[in-house]
Amino acid sequence: MTTIERTVGAPMTRVDGLDKVTGAARYAYEFPIGDVSYVWPVQATIARGRVTGVDAAAALSRPGVVAVLDSGNAPRLNAEAEVSADLFVLQSPEVAYHGQIVAAVVATSLEAACEGAAAVRVSYEQEPHDVVLRADDEAAEIPETVTDGTPGFVERGDTDAAWAAAPVRVDHVYTTPVEHVSPMEPHSTIATWDEDRLTLYNSDQGPFMSAQLLTGLFGLEDGAVEVVAEHIGGGFGSKGIPRSPAVLAALAARAAGRPVKIALTRQQMFALIPYRAPTIQRVRLGAERDGRLTVIEHESVQQRARLVPFADQTVSSSRMMYAAPSARTTVKTAPLDVMTPAWFRAPGHTPGMFALESAMDELAEELGMDPIELRIRNEPEVDPGTGKPFSSRSLVACLRQGAARFGWERRDPAPGIRREGSWLVGTGVAASHHPDYTFPSSALARAEEDGTFLVRIGAADLGTGARTAMTQVAADALGIPLSRLRLEIGRASLGMAPFAGGSLGTASWGWAVDKACRALVKELDAYGGVVPDGGLEVRADTTEDLGNRPEMSRHTFGAQFAQVRVDRDTGEIRVDRMLGMFAAGRIINPHTARSQFLGAMTMGLSMALLEIGEVDPVFGDFANHDFAGYHIAAHADVPKLDVAWLEERDNSPNPIGAKGIGELGIVGAAAAIANAFHHATGHRVRDLPIRLERSR
Ligand code: MOS
Repeated sequence: MTTIERTVGAPMTRVDGLDKVTGAARYAYEFPIGDVSYVWPVQATIARGRVTGVDAAAALSRPGVVAVLDSGNAPRLNAEAEVSADLFVLQSPEVAYHGQIVAAVVATSLEAACEGAAAVRVSYEQEPHDVVLRADDEAAEIPETVTDGTPGFVERGDTDAAWAAAPVRVDHVYTTPVEHVSPMEPHSTIATWDEDRLTLYNSDQGPFMSAQLLTGLFGLEDGAVEVVAEHIGGGFGSKGIPRSPAVLAALAARAAGRPVKIALTRQQMFALIPYRAPTIQRVRLGAERDGRLTVIEHESVQQRARLVPFADQTVSSSRMMYAAPSARTTVKTAPLDVMTPAWFRAPGHTPGMFALESAMDELAEELGMDPIELRIRNEPEVDPGTGKPFSSRSLVACLRQGAARFGWERRDPAPGIRREGSWLVGTGVAASHHPDYTFPSSALARAEEDGTFLVRIGAADLGTGARTAMTQVAADALGIPLSRLRLEIGRASLGMAPFAGGSLGTASWGWAVDKACRALVKELDAYGGVVPDGGLEVRADTTEDLGNRPEMSRHTFGAQFAQVRVDRDTGEIRVDRMLGMFAAGRIINPHTARSQFLGAMTMGLSMALLEIGEVDPVFGDFANHDFAGYHIAAHADVPKLDVAWLEERDNSPNPIGAKGIGELGIVGAAAAIANAFHHATGHRVRDLPIRLERSR
């Protein structure tokens, strides 16, 4: 008898690594579809008003141009579909934001489509627009719910009385700018119709959910839409649903009666793909002199598009992080003439924890208390927002063990006194947090007559290593070596499964894969271990199992540490080193998990020091819209990043024990850097990014 080594917990390299580095891995734009045409969008040059005319004559007379679409001749979408208003592409002459798709050219070559689009003449009736977020915008309203499903306003205790009585207080405003998602692979789609059946090769985080959405939007029969997403070059939330260019491709293919493809240019990405909403956040913390918080007040004013009621959960972390008896948390959204913001890695929690964790640092200073000790002193026993027990919560352990690993005990708390030549040096800490979501999923496991096994799941691998993690889970549950396993993911038709978003993929899909595989092993036993003629297959669904889970508060936690140096003369800021110490249940694959944390911390560094979408109020759009003007961290900006984690046994009946890790690593990173910046210089920057002109 041979022993099969368990693969869960092993640092496996990617099962699709060779395919990726040899170019065999197919991304959406690369599927070899015959007789394909190209669509190029024509984008609004006003921020508000309506299209009064589209003159397509010059475009149509160009060689290769097949069709020019506008809101007058584009195929109709199902107006009843409950989807983001931004997806009703070319359904109305109204212009809601600068850069919106107002027409499109289909042509037999990419060049002809691009040149054709330049030849389309669009006339407008322009109205005054407003694209600037202001804290006192009178139109700002508290949404009934924010994107995590919780109310826009929540209060516990008597916040006003607690504030009035608090012996120690901090009260500050923090701002975060527009941040753009910039995945390596821009949004791209091939759309092809067969009668009333649509196949979309799409760079997509959730093929099954996207197929559902498109079925509704195009008013088709159940099962009429296939979405294929075999390989994806990143998404960060922006590919969580099909965006307007994917809908345009499907409309264009329908209208032109032939397959159509689109790949956005980087500049089109900035104009057409949703971004992280900018925020203006006021945080008030009141505490006893011993550091115990008595009150937390956190209000975030953030922008939305007039037509799309999107509201990030910016204050949700403040509801459960610390044991304050009273707390008032509010989101307000101001409707502007802008493209809709949407999910961007750890939506809401990322800007929200920048504000809360900066304020905690300010409170620690006010109290003359170590910032780690302040957080430990406010550790709650149960979720202070809901009263539910935590399934697991290792924040204190992360802070303590992180402090030891980082060398925190040698730190002199006084700000602005450490010099190395012309550099001022400082260190900072912040807590990290993300909800641990699990969604229902299904999976299929099949035993073949030749002794191999097939597992199918409608998952998507954003590049994170999901395909590898699911292979590990399946191999262990089946008790077979990897060589006998074939795993298929990345298609809607593989069955109901949630998207690769909200850090919920591994736990949600893994549960279904584990369940299907174990059920198959049992059935096989009933056949005496001999696969019957034609093979044997089992489909499992976790919907009921999820419903039966005990009510608990489920989250992941971490502690972020940073050391920065600031040049006294020039204001130049460099991050010397960072440590992220995390706790997120059982880690399925340490190799790919580490990469996830590294990437997220890098994104947090980029947010702290570089990223800002600059809005031009007159033009009505972003003034910087490519990597020349919108800076993201490059290798030279990123120092030694140390990633570590504590293995957690989570008290949840999720058989694989995994919690989400994809987003945790960005949360708190910017606050740790801002806090280190303050420790280095004695100067507090409350507006991101911390740029030269803000550094003194
Ligand atoms: Mo993430 S922003 O939920 O893909």
